[in-house]
Amino acid sequence: MKSIVLLGSTGSIGTNTLRIVERFPRRFRVAGLAAGRNLSLLIRQAKTFRPRVVSVEREADAVKVRRALAGLKIEVLAGSQGAESVAARDDSDIVVSAITGVHGLRPTLAAVRAGKTVALANKESMVVAGPLLRKEAARSGAVFIPVDSEHSGVFQCLAKESRDAVRKVILTASGGPFWRTPLAELKNKTPEEALRHPRWKMGRKVTIDSATLMNKGLELIEARWLFGLDPDELDVLIHPQSVVHALVEMRDGSVLAQLSVTDMRIPILYALSYPERGEAVLPSLDLARVGPLEFHPAEEKRFPLLGLARRALAAGGSWPVALNAANEVAVRAFLEGRIRFGDIAGLVRRTLDGHSRTDCRAIGDILEADREARARAFEKLKLMQR
Ligand SMILES: NC(=O)c1ccc[n+]([C@@H]2O[C@H](COP(=O)([O-])OP(=O)(O)OC[C@H]3O[C@@H](n4cnc5c(N)ncnc54)[C@H](OP(=O)(O)O)[C@@H]3O)[C@@H](O)[C@H]2O)c1
Repeated sequence: MKSIVLLGSTGSIGTNTLRIVERFPRRFRVAGLAAGRNLSLLIRQAKTFRPRVVSVEREADAVKVRRALAGLKIEVLAGSQGAESVAARDDSDIVVSAITGVHGLRPTLAAVRAGKTVALANKESMVVAGPLLRKEAARSGAVFIPVDSEHSGVFQCLAKESRDAVRKVILTASGGPFWRTPLAELKNKTPEEALRHPRWKMGRKVTIDSATLMNKGLELIEARWLFGLDPDELDVLIHPQSVVHALVEMRDGSVLAQLSVTDMRIPILYALSYPERGEAVLPSLDLARVGPLEFHPAEEKRFPLLGLARRALAAGGSWPVALNAANEVAVRAFLEGRIRFGDIAGLVRRTLDGHSRTDCRAIGDILEADREARARAFEKLKLMQR
């Protein structure tokens, strides 16, 4: 029986993880849950899965949750410290890190420092703190198992391969809802249109990142640190069918691929079960019915954020931190109707243009670079709204 801590339990990855736990009650149990502000769902989850501890974003909400869970012997914590404490608990075997955005960093770091096996969905923490997380994992013995489908695919392809046998890792991208949209129509796409992803059902932020391809840019940086790859060993292809999740080109010219149906429960089950294989929760992939599989280059003219992400990947240091912060501000502004779809990349670019690189070795450096970039992004946002 594996005991699981789930950070971000009320989100898309969180609820899919709990569907798997529910399906295999003899293999998995829930030790702790952390959520943000969706109290009604968190309370329902706590009553169903009976963890020892839960955490919410705000202290005022913790009071309400304590009242709702009175008599169930469930400790209720709050704030980042609450999530960090849930993440570092002694009684868990695996921590699923699925809080969205940079808010996931501190709890993920707490899990790593406690030497946990971390099933990593929160790519932003690896983007902003890859070197730090790797260093802390080497010290504590923590292990990362990727949950992102592309990285899960790479992880599976590399399982029996030595690092120096790898020539290139290619992450696939569906291309999102606008891959075929004429360029002139792109800038005025609405949040409703951008949230209509053709293949994946995900949280709002990652869905917008998929429409701009920033998601793939963040994933390139995530892959750099997860697998210890150089920037020129990483590439992206558009693959609209989203059946092949990753391709790994080997030194001898062989290309390994990982395929599955398009459903996050597959990489989540893999991460929870690793190093074993769980029992399938979905029908098999039927390639005869899927039809032709296409692969196309990802053009930076259409997806300028991918170009900016590559720039940040190459520059390193505080660049990925600034990229991520500016993108979080821009996506939020777009979802709130304050800027147009076509302005997301412009806002990120203007923020990065004023960025001077610093080293980000400690958590304090990372949070400072994040704060500075956010402040600059808000300034640029104000100018754009005039
Ligand atoms: N969804 C996917 O298929 C997918 C695939 C690959 C990777 N990912 C990555 O996985 C992560 C989660 O994605 P998602 O789609 O599951 O996002 P989501 O549906 O938006 O869920 C986000 C979760 O984070 C919680 N949260 C947000 N801010 C918080 C805070 N300050 N403190 C504590 N909890 C907080 C939310 O709580 P409340 O809802 O209670 O406020 C929710 O449980 C992201 O990094 C994403 O890039 C997702």
